[in-house]
Amino acid sequence: MKKWVNQLHLGECIEGLKKTKKEQVDLVFADPPYNIGFSYDVYEDKLESSEYLRWSEDWIGACHKALKPSGAMWIAIGDEYVAEIKIIAEKLGLHLRNWVIWYYTFGVHCTQKFGRSHTHLLYFVKDPDKIVFNDSEIRVPSARQLIYNDKRANSAGRIPDNTWILRPQAAPGSFAAGHDTWYFARVAGTFKERAGFHGCQMPEQLLGRIVRCCSSVDDVVLDPFAGSGSTLCVAKKLGRQWVGYDISPEYVQLAKARINSVNNGDALEGPEDPLKSTPAISKRASRAKREKNQEQAIITAFQKASDGFSVDRVIADPVLNASFIDECSVQSLSGRPVDWNLELLALRKTGDFAQLRSSKREQVSLTKMDLYEFASEIALRRMMDMGYSSLDHILCDPYAASRFDDFARSLAPGFKSFDYRWAALRIRKQAHTWRVSSEKYVSFKKKSKRFDLDDNKFKGIPKSPAVYLLKSGSSNSLPLYIGETFNLMDRASRTISAQTALNQFAPNTGEWYLEIYLQKDVDQLDRRGLQSYLIGRNQPRMNFMELAAT
Ligand SMILES: C[S@@+](CC[C@H](N)C(=O)[O-])C[C@H]1O[C@@H](n2cnc3c(N)ncnc32)[C@H](O)[C@@H]1O
Repeated sequence: MKKWVNQLHLGECIEGLKKTKKEQVDLVFADPPYNIGFSYDVYEDKLESSEYLRWSEDWIGACHKALKPSGAMWIAIGDEYVAEIKIIAEKLGLHLRNWVIWYYTFGVHCTQKFGRSHTHLLYFVKDPDKIVFNDSEIRVPSARQLIYNDKRANSAGRIPDNTWILRPQAAPGSFAAGHDTWYFARVAGTFKERAGFHGCQMPEQLLGRIVRCCSSVDDVVLDPFAGSGSTLCVAKKLGRQWVGYDISPEYVQLAKARINSVNNGDALEGPEDPLKSTPAISKRASRAKREKNQEQAIITAFQKASDGFSVDRVIADPVLNASFIDECSVQSLSGRPVDWNLELLALRKTGDFAQLRSSKREQVSLTKMDLYEFASEIALRRMMDMGYSSLDHILCDPYAASRFDDFARSLAPGFKSFDYRWAALRIRKQAHTWRVSSEKYVSFKKKSKRFDLDDNKFKGIPKSPAVYLLKSGSSNSLPLYIGETFNLMDRASRTISAQTALNQFAPNTGEWYLEIYLQKDVDQLDRRGLQSYLIGRNQPRMNFMELAAT
């Protein structure tokens, strides 16, 4: 039988755990779906409340059985179900040791109630008389030491409180001498740490604290909802054995690649351990020097690889990008290709570097782009639904970029990867202008015409510029996609050809048809304005939502 540990298993965790021996896990870290309608790749995060609680009882029970008597179990959970989850876990025989509040910034802003800026981390053990709590591994310098330089402070630091908030050195004004809380920002879209394919990635430093404290080297750490693989990467880096489950083939494949890229002994991603994170001035200076060197090396690699083209072109063109990555590798830069690409973009965005300017311009005709731009847009939306935070993160990560190409190519075959990527960049760049152009449509009342997308009839569709809604099923159903084109007939025929691929993205529920607004005497900017207005009103499932008028 295949070894169970040091594996990420594709499959349902309750079923998987049923097939394994009892009492072989030292630490469980579980970050289940919170039943709040989050968009995962496979899992539907909106069960009936009673069904969600029954399911929670099943997976907590399965993890409880897998735990050794000295084992610990941490559950991350939102406000909606934390009370019920605590009761269920205790009913199954777990004992609560701490209820930690993980405070984060970058929470979703609310207008009608108080915004959410925390997640609950419940820390249970199987037997309160047999615990593993490696306090020396997780002590932090107290505010007394760091801010007040108080000689009475314990030089070994303190065990953190149960609100993991701000590092004292990050916000000295917020702390009194007795406070010892810690800060882990959520892994936001722009963070270097972000693997890029999962919307709920946990910070490595937060997991590091849990793994260090509640397990020892070679112990087995289980994550039943592995997602992007954060817990497993941290366990591997810290020399633990690791095992995980996830039901999404996509996440499993990407998380495996992430886990394979790390090694025992690697540093955890994210803000440094606070024990070492108030660097002496000389250390700070040497870090600044390292950063300057890295910056210079990125610029040199760009100059060698770019052939006079722009930074965007080097990011989007697989051939130029491969040369850039090679140049970075030759210079032994720290990080991975995705980091180097993101650093290059970040340097370009500062606008300070004359060496990053281009001498050659990329010209792609709009009529050529019209043949595949819709495919780029739908592929971009698909990648964002999978948890990628931005087009930059997709294009900078060679693996993600090739997945994007595959999606786009399945919808409009026959073009180069660069073409699909460049079209997506154009859509992103123009989004603001098109949204502004939508303002003239606020009282738009024109009636649309319907054309069925049936092989025999679509020939009657004119070869005219148009804005259209792609729908299936009944006439009042929500559109799947709202497009704009120079040639409606060509687009209709491409849409029919893409039907099988489109079905994978949004299974259709009936006959496909177009509701069209012919726009013969209207220029493209105005058509884009109408498209943006209609996207804002209808929220279609396949459009890039930055195009939506608000
Ligand atoms: C909140 S996310 C976990 C994120 C993870 N902590 C990380 O840092 O990336 C929950 C994950 O559970 C997976 N999932 C949902 N139901 C599952 C089940 N029954 N068994 C295994 N995985 C499941 C989803 O695909 C999703 O990736």
